[in-house]
Amino acid sequence: MTISIDPVRSDFVARVEGIDLKHALDAASFAVVRQALDEHSILIFSDQPMNDQEQKRFSDWWGPMEPTKGVNPASGTPFARQSNLDIDTGEVIAPDDRRMDYQKGNYQWHADSTFKPTPSLCSILTARIVPPIGGNTEFVSTRRLYEGLDEDLRERCEGLIVEHNIAFSRARVGFKFTPEEEALHPSSWHPLVQTNPVTGRHSLLIGAHAARILGWSDHEAAEFLDELLERATRPEAVYSHAWRQGDIIIWDNRSALHRATAYDGVNHRRLMQRTTIGNPDILNTAAYARVRAQRQGA
Ligand SMILES: [Fe+2]
Repeated sequence: MTISIDPVRSDFVARVEGIDLKHALDAASFAVVRQALDEHSILIFSDQPMNDQEQKRFSDWWGPMEPTKGVNPASGTPFARQSNLDIDTGEVIAPDDRRMDYQKGNYQWHADSTFKPTPSLCSILTARIVPPIGGNTEFVSTRRLYEGLDEDLRERCEGLIVEHNIAFSRARVGFKFTPEEEALHPSSWHPLVQTNPVTGRHSLLIGAHAARILGWSDHEAAEFLDELLERATRPEAVYSHAWRQGDIIIWDNRSALHRATAYDGVNHRRLMQRTTIGNPDILNTAAYARVRAQRQGA
């Protein structure tokens, strides 16, 4: 079988075919997919249904899976469950249930896990049960954002360190953490400008969890971060994916943002399972050494 990688959008998003992720993955095939993620940021595979065990096995190829903790019903496992179905009974959850309110935070543009001290390399989302309409996931490229900035704006971004916090981002949609939940998720700090170690291309780590900029006033930081987000998410820059059962999408959390969109959660069922791959190696780079040094000096 020959692996084909066909761009869906010229600058990011590619569809990958000719590979069986579940039964026949080998090191050479994985290397092709791994390289494709660096180049395209978002990879789409179709007709590759997976159960939890199979998804875990596939995720192991990518690096260490992050454990999920906190409010997500799959807390304590490597899965982040995106669903309107109760994890124990399989019944539809009432729309005003706190678990559904929590998921509304995903309607905001974000990269996964930027609020964690070890940032994420990528997420793997498998479509298990898909509503007949709605529930698209939308993507934009923050590499495209960076590369489209004029020289002045690029210079303003250079060296900035951004504080990310999930209680902050959930509060934006009216979801309040309990003090215990908030204590599980203290802020994390990351360089705004990220560099892909393979391609050398830059992107910006922004999104809903980005709460403050080190050394800036809250007001100035909010204005600047909002401006960057607005530029990244212009309608013409968005790729919107209509899911089919058996689809898998892998996205690069270093160079892309995504958001969930609404569906009829009363009459339709939806179950998506996400594994998130950590990127501990990045903590050994000069960029993160600088973050630690500046945080100590702040
Ligand atoms: Fe997400």
